[in-house]
Amino acid sequence: MKRLGVNIDHVATLRNARGGSHPNPIVVAKEVIKFGADSVTIHLREDRRHINDIDLKKISRTKIPINLEIACNYEMLKIALKNNPKFVCLVPEKRKEVTTEGGLNLSKYNKKIKYIVEKLNKKKIRTSLFIDPTLKDIFYSKKINANCVEIHTGKISNLIKMKKNYLSEFKKIKKCAKYAVSLGIEVHAGHGMDYKTTKILSKINEIKEFNIGHFIIGESISIGLKNVIKKINKIIKK
Ligand code: PXP
Repeated sequence: MKRLGVNIDHVATLRNARGGSHPNPIVVAKEVIKFGADSVTIHLREDRRHINDIDLKKISRTKIPINLEIACNYEMLKIALKNNPKFVCLVPEKRKEVTTEGGLNLSKYNKKIKYIVEKLNKKKIRTSLFIDPTLKDIFYSKKINANCVEIHTGKISNLIKMKKNYLSEFKKIKKCAKYAVSLGIEVHAGHGMDYKTTKILSKINEIKEFNIGHFIIGESISIGLKNVIKKINKIIKK
């Protein structure tokens, strides 16, 4: 069965816009699970622009299965080990980016990433690497001993939304997913997905988990969180 992870960072973005405590990401995290998601993703950014340390601490005290996205550095590793989430996804991070714009540079930082993955593996935290769909990065992910890869689906999502030809990107993702599975790595997908993108990508059987944020939170303004999660689950779990 394919799984759905809901990224709730933008609940915190909305809260932070007024500096108060509403909407509350912890309340929404509980709702997301109640409405049928399998996990909740939060990205503790170095600039704390949405989710902050207190959110992480509070959410870690619940039974909600958390997928914590962090940059690859020792400060973030320390925070992850202290809060002990069920899953961690290592992502690249640039201060000025609007969102995570690309995958990790595994060839450049493989020693550091391997060290971080080892520490997380030791604590039995399932760890994924956010990568672009290239065979080279799948190969490096295996060398690094990552349990999973999350393939950056930003490019294909944009092509689909702009009604452009997405076939070669689709084939690339499929080839990478098959290669990863052949090496014993679980495959996830994330970034830029909406109903249509999710429907297209869910045709790739090797993708076991979809992590979707901005669209689900945005769409919930119109039709409610419960209905959006129901619709997305219907697409990926059919
Ligand atoms: N997966 C990862 C690793 C991400 O960094 C993000 C964006 O924070 C997402 C999934 C969700 O992307 P979106 O908000 O575009 O659905």
